[in-house]
Amino acid sequence: MNFTEEIARRRTFGIISHPDAGKTTLTEKLLLFGGAIQEAGAVKSHKIKKSATSDFMEIEKQRGISVATSVLAFNYQGIKINILDTPGHKDFAEDTFRTLTAVDSVIVVVDVAKGVEEQTEKLVEVCRMREIPIIVFINKLDREGKDGFDLLDELEKKLNFKVCPLSFPIGMGYDFQGVYNLWEQNLMLFEEENKQKIANSVKINKIDDPLVKKLIGENAASKLDEEIEIINEVYPNFSKEDYLKCEQQPVFFGSALNNFGVKELLDCFISIAPSPKNKISSERVIEPGENKFTGFIFKIHANMDPKHRDRLAFIKIVSGKFKRNTAYHHVRSNKKFKFSSPNAFFAEKKEIVNESFPGDIVGVHDSGNFKIGDSFSEGEEIIFKGIPSFSPEHFRYINNLDPMKSKQLAKGIDQLMDEGVAQLFVLEMNGRKIIGTVGALQFEVIQYRLEHEYGAKCSYENLNIFKACWVETDSNKNIEFIEFKKIKNKFLAKDKSGQLVFLADSSFTLEMTKQKYPSLKFHYKSEF
Ligand code: G4P
Repeated sequence: MNFTEEIARRRTFGIISHPDAGKTTLTEKLLLFGGAIQEAGAVKSHKIKKSATSDFMEIEKQRGISVATSVLAFNYQGIKINILDTPGHKDFAEDTFRTLTAVDSVIVVVDVAKGVEEQTEKLVEVCRMREIPIIVFINKLDREGKDGFDLLDELEKKLNFKVCPLSFPIGMGYDFQGVYNLWEQNLMLFEEENKQKIANSVKINKIDDPLVKKLIGENAASKLDEEIEIINEVYPNFSKEDYLKCEQQPVFFGSALNNFGVKELLDCFISIAPSPKNKISSERVIEPGENKFTGFIFKIHANMDPKHRDRLAFIKIVSGKFKRNTAYHHVRSNKKFKFSSPNAFFAEKKEIVNESFPGDIVGVHDSGNFKIGDSFSEGEEIIFKGIPSFSPEHFRYINNLDPMKSKQLAKGIDQLMDEGVAQLFVLEMNGRKIIGTVGALQFEVIQYRLEHEYGAKCSYENLNIFKACWVETDSNKNIEFIEFKKIKNKFLAKDKSGQLVFLADSSFTLEMTKQKYPSLKFHYKSEF
C-alpha cells in the first residue's frame, strides 16, 4: 500500500459523552466488532470508576493502566481505526479537551432518558471551535426514555445541531422492537438476549412493505410510517459534504449494552468519517500527504513506577512518515531527538513500530524534556496551535513543608504541570505559587505524586478565586494597561509560559474591571 492509501484508510476519532451515557460500553462494542478484543469487559476494567472519586490512589493506578487504552487501534474492513480515549470523569475534562485536538471526528453518545447533559454541551462546544465533524449515537433504547423527536429537538436546541436521523426507534423500553435504518433502508429487530451477537436486519423494499406490518405489528407499523413521513418532510437528506463541514450531524439510535445498532453505526462511520485532515500551524497549513514528518504532543502520561521518572508522550502524526531511530527537531527547545522504541497502541497491547502514518499516534519515552503542545518536525519552525489552557475551577496556594526539598518540589511541580495535571500561576507581587485545577481531586493527586515521585512534601491553603483570565492588551504602553497593572497588582500572576493572568475573586469584580478598562480583553482561555 502506498503512502496516500495509508493516509486515506485512517480514521482517528474520539467518543465523548456525559459520564454514564455509555461511552465505555460503546468503545468496547466497537472493539469487539473490530476483532480487537475477544470478550466484553476488557475496556471496562480500565475505566476510572465513579466510586473511586475520593480514592486517588485507585485513580492513579487506573490512569496507569489506561496507558494501554489511551489509544485503541484496530483494523475493520481494511480501515485503520484509532479511537482516542477521553476520560469521562469530569475532573479530567481538560485531558479530554486536549485529546480533541488530535481527533479528526467524534461520536457523541447521548442517554435516551437523560438527553443532552452538561458535559456533552461543553465538549460539543470544543468540537465546534475545532470544526470537528460529529455523529450522534442515542443509547440505551432498551430503557424507557424521551421521545425520538423530542431528543432530535433537544440536540438542535441545546447543541445547535442540524440533525439528520439515519435511524429511528420502533418503540422504547419495554416496547422496544428495533430500529428502522434509513441509511441502509432496512429494519433491525431487537432481541434482548443477543448481547454478544450482531442483531439481525431485515431487508425491506420501502417503509410500506407488508413485511413491516408482519414483523412489528399493525399499530407499530402505521406509527413508524407516520414518523418516517415526518422525518422525510422535516429533516434534510443526509449530505456527507455538510457533515464534513460540521453543518449536519447524523443521528443513530441503539443500545450499546445490547450490541444493538453498533454495527450500523460503525459501517456508516467508516464510510463517511474523514481521514486525517490538514492542520493549521503557526507558519502555514500542513497537509497529511506532505513528505516531511510533523506532529505534536497532546498527552503525557507519567510512569507509574516511582523509581523511574520516565514518561510516555503521545505524538499525533500530522504529516509525513514517522520513522524509528530518526532524529527529529523539537521546535520549542531547538534540539534533536531520536526515538529508539516508539510505541503503537492496540486494544490490549502496545508494540514497538518502525514507521507510522498521519492520523496515527505514537508513544515515545520522555525524561522530562517535553510538554503538552510541543511540536516536532524535520527542521521547520512550525508550532501547532489549539491546545489552550482553560480557566481552572479551583485554586489553592501551594506551600513547601520541607525547606531542604525546595528544589525537588519546584521540579515536581514543573513536570506535573508539563503533563497537564493542573496549572501553575505565580503571583507578580510576591512570587507565591498557586495551583489551579479543574476538579478538587487533582490536589490530592499532586500532593501524593510530589511526595512519592519527587520526595517533596507540600500543603495547600485555600484561596478565593472565581476565574483566571488571560489579559490581552494592544500595547504594553497602553495607559489603561499600566494603570490596571498598578491597581490590580495583588491579583496578577504569570502562567507557566509567562502570560499575564488576572485572578478575579468574583464575577462582580471581573465585570467591574472589564468596564473600567474597556481597551483590555479578558479571556477564559490562554489562546486567543
Ligand atoms: P460512560 O463510559 O459513558 O461513563 O458509561 P458506561 O459505558 O460505563 O455505561 C454506564 C452504565 O450504563 C453502565 O451501567 C452500562 O452497563 C450502562 N449501559 C451502557 N449502555 C447501555 C444500554 O444500551 N442499555 C442499558 N440499559 N444500559 C447501558 P453500570 O451499572 O453503571 O455499570 P456496570 O455495572 O454495568 O458496569
